[in-house]
Amino acid sequence: MSLYINDSTGVDELSVVGSQEQSFKSPAYALFANKQKNGAEAPEPKLFVFKAEDNEYQEISASALKKARKGCDGLNKKLIKQKEQDAKKQEQDAKNLEKQMSSLNIKIEEDKSLPAAQKCKINTSYAKVGERVKVSGWIHRFRSNKKVVFVVLRDGSGFLQTVLSGDLALAQQTLDLTLESTVTLYGVITKVPEGKTAPGNVELIVDYYEVVGLAPSGDESFTNKIAEGADASLLLDQRHLTLRGETLSAVMKVRSALLKAIRRFYVEESLLEVTPPCMVQTQVEGGSTLFKLDYYGEEAYLTQSSQLYLETCLPALGDVYCVQESFRAEKSHTRRHLSEYTHIEAELAFITFDDLLNHIEKLIINSVKYVLEDPVAGPLVKQLNPDFVAPEGPFLRLEYKDAIKWLVEHDIKNEDGAPFKFGDDIAEAAERKMTDTIGKPILLTKFPVAIKSFYMERCADDESVTESVDVLMPTVGEITGGSMRITDADVLVERMKSEGLDPAAYYWFIDQRKYGTCPHGGYGLGTERILAWLCDRFTVRDCSLYPRFSGRCKP
Ligand code: 4AD
Repeated sequence: MSLYINDSTGVDELSVVGSQEQSFKSPAYALFANKQKNGAEAPEPKLFVFKAEDNEYQEISASALKKARKGCDGLNKKLIKQKEQDAKKQEQDAKNLEKQMSSLNIKIEEDKSLPAAQKCKINTSYAKVGERVKVSGWIHRFRSNKKVVFVVLRDGSGFLQTVLSGDLALAQQTLDLTLESTVTLYGVITKVPEGKTAPGNVELIVDYYEVVGLAPSGDESFTNKIAEGADASLLLDQRHLTLRGETLSAVMKVRSALLKAIRRFYVEESLLEVTPPCMVQTQVEGGSTLFKLDYYGEEAYLTQSSQLYLETCLPALGDVYCVQESFRAEKSHTRRHLSEYTHIEAELAFITFDDLLNHIEKLIINSVKYVLEDPVAGPLVKQLNPDFVAPEGPFLRLEYKDAIKWLVEHDIKNEDGAPFKFGDDIAEAAERKMTDTIGKPILLTKFPVAIKSFYMERCADDESVTESVDVLMPTVGEITGGSMRITDADVLVERMKSEGLDPAAYYWFIDQRKYGTCPHGGYGLGTERILAWLCDRFTVRDCSLYPRFSGRCKP
């Protein structure tokens, strides 16, 4: 038998017959094709190779034939290997299919012979070691290692480590679970093995579960929506989702504990909580930051401070406080200004300026202490702000005039770049430098009349300054502003007029002085500012649920 080879027109394929018209491309392949067609034992064909220079087929040389035999062996080996690989793949595919079919076939059913599961929140589940419970929540973390699936469940009250094994881990339904899906897990609460840690030191050994709502996977998946390192404004657009994260939710939990602590302090100090209106027709802190609104055709504003209303409550209710939203149309984009913030304000009757300072100091020390003692918030503060040290009294009391001296001595310049002089406003940057350098809480007192609000009482021994106070904290600066209030109606009216305010609109506020005046004072504490200090957040925006600032009023 003869086979023909032409390396320019030939083709190495099994369908080729090997004639002069339909030749192979290489001698090795011609031998290989012959074995494939006629069997391994078939006699070796004679090979003729086309020589272009002579324009004819000539019998292959002995050395070329030797090389061709070697090549043929190589092709044979390659074929065997390929066949083996194909067989393996087929076997694996069959196994996968079988597994998938069995995963699909696994029905997750509750074993009714088990003790009934008690419904509970995660934070109460920690104490139920040995008991069968059912816990509902969101899948915070998900990890599968073929035989076992670990889910960290979150329900707001805490995190629970849970373990799914056996059929539960293999079931397609489990493999399809996604982050943020909601589930109800049933199982027995078990202590984690020695040396392992988990929230509450327990894990739930799941024996049954139900899917409540499956969250999207792929492009729409939770982690794609709030990718790590995404732009701050994109994250704010997705605030409803970012709030689910460990840091923001921790700050919100500390926030709740702080408000609880503040209320506890006020109860202890016999202050009564009131809720003044947010829609008002008077200003408290200057016209430039008023949010105007059309109130049935009349001009009205969103309140800047509830102070004036609190003052009017004193004769009716005694010392009062409120936790109310305040609104400021702040044009500046600073890390400590919001357009809407939660304002903790209090007003106290028959006090001296010193009483006011002592009260503010006690409020801060005690409420921080209560937060740190809180079983949920205390550890969260430690986690967010590991270096936090609870403030101790007495706070440094620094008069404005001495602060000016301090700033000059430390070569810190005012807003015009000049050395500070009496009467200058100590703006944010200088204030923060001073506070951070001193490194502890400061009660900055006795600001000049000209740079403070119209309602502030002057100091008896120096008419150029007021009985006013700002509390400054390292890293954030001012967290509280307060003062004694003018007690004399005529003096107050005079001050209002010199500030360009129409006393007629404030008749109800002035009446507080007319119908039984009293020395009194109060203050406002910015919730987000004290939180930024407590939780070591760079900006107050991280301390508000849905922060509002210029350019941001959604979601
Ligand atoms: O110093 P302020 O303007 O004082 C008042 O409003 C008084 N009427 C309060 C009173 O005496 N009842 O504001 C008080 C505190 C500030 O110290 C600061 O913590 C916070 O409110 N604050 C702001 N927080 C966030 N964003 C803003 N734009 C804020 N403006 C003031």
